[in-house]
Amino acid sequence: MNEAIGESRNVTFHSTNPQSGDSRKELLQGLQETQKNLDPKWFYDEQGSQLFDRITRLPEYYPTRTEIGILSDNREAISRICEPGCVFIEPGSGSCEKVRLLLESLRPSAYVPVDISEEFLRDSAMQLGQEYPWLDIHAVCADFNQGWSFLDRVPEGKRVIFYPGSTIGNLEPGAALTFLKRIREILGEEGGALIGVDLHKSSDRLNAAYNDASGLTAEFNLNVLGRINSELDAEFDETLFNHKAFYNKAQQRIEMHLVSRQAQSVKCNGSHIEFEEGETIHTENSYKYTVEGFAQLAAAAGLTLKQTWLDEEGLFSVHYLGLA
Ligand code: AVJ
Repeated sequence: MNEAIGESRNVTFHSTNPQSGDSRKELLQGLQETQKNLDPKWFYDEQGSQLFDRITRLPEYYPTRTEIGILSDNREAISRICEPGCVFIEPGSGSCEKVRLLLESLRPSAYVPVDISEEFLRDSAMQLGQEYPWLDIHAVCADFNQGWSFLDRVPEGKRVIFYPGSTIGNLEPGAALTFLKRIREILGEEGGALIGVDLHKSSDRLNAAYNDASGLTAEFNLNVLGRINSELDAEFDETLFNHKAFYNKAQQRIEMHLVSRQAQSVKCNGSHIEFEEGETIHTENSYKYTVEGFAQLAAAAGLTLKQTWLDEEGLFSVHYLGLA
C-alpha cells in the first residue's frame, strides 16, 4: 500500500496501484476456448458504463429501481442492523450513488469506497465528500479480487460490506462462495454484509429485462467488441454479430451471447479468430437466486441471513449477513 495519494478536508485517498495484469492474455484465452467467452468486466469502458447507466432506467430493467426502492423504504431498519458508527465498505463503488440512500440514517464513522478506476473513484469520492461534509471518506483504489489487504489502512470499527446491484450474480456459484468466504474472514465477530441479489422469477420477465424493446442491451453487448478491438488491436465488426440473451432456467442464470451472423475470420492480435455461422461468444452470466438458495450459499461460507428485505412483487432482495 502506498502513501495516501491526496486529500481534502474529509476525503483521504489510498492507492494499492492495482496491476491491470495481463489483460491481453486473459482476453485472448477466452476467445480461444471451444465456447468463446469474455468476462463481463470488459463491458465497462467509458461507453459501456454509460450504456449500462441508461439500461438501469429502461422500463423492462427492473433490478436497479427495485433495489433503490427496497433500500429507501427500509433505510431505518437497515441502518439499525448495520449500526451507526460502523465502517461502511463498498467494493466496486462506482459513482457512490446507492450509498446516498443510507448515509443520513446510517451515519457511519467512515465510508470506504473501493474501486479499480482511480479517476472515477476520485471524482465520486470528492463529490460525495462535498455533499456530506460530516462524513469521513477513505477512498481506496484497489482490485478487491486481488485481496483485501487495503483494510489495514481503514479506521477501526465494526465492518459492514455493502455490495448492491446483484453484482454477485456475475460470479459463478463457486466464485460467489469464495467471495462470501473472503467476506466472512474480514468481518470479525461483529461485522456484517449488506448484499443486493436479483431473484429467480418468470422467464418472460427475465427475458424482457435483457431484451429491451429499444435495443439498448443489444448495444451494450455489442459494444464489448469495440473494447476488444482496442485492447487486442482486433477488427471485430459489430454489424456481423447479433445480440442474444435468454434465461437458462436449469442454471438459474441469464446468458448473454454475441452470435456470429456468418462464417468469418476476424483479425485479432496478429492472428485470426475463426467463427462458424451461428457460433457465439458468451459475454455474461447473470445468476438469479431464490432467498433459500442464497441462504444456502451464505451458510456454506459460514454466514447467515440475519435479515432479508424484498419489494412487494418479490423481484429483488437485499440481505444483511452476519457470522453464522
Ligand atoms: C450489473 C451484473 C447486475 O446482470 O443485470 C444488465 C449487468 N447485463 N443488462 C445484470 C447487465 C445486461 C447487470 N449487473
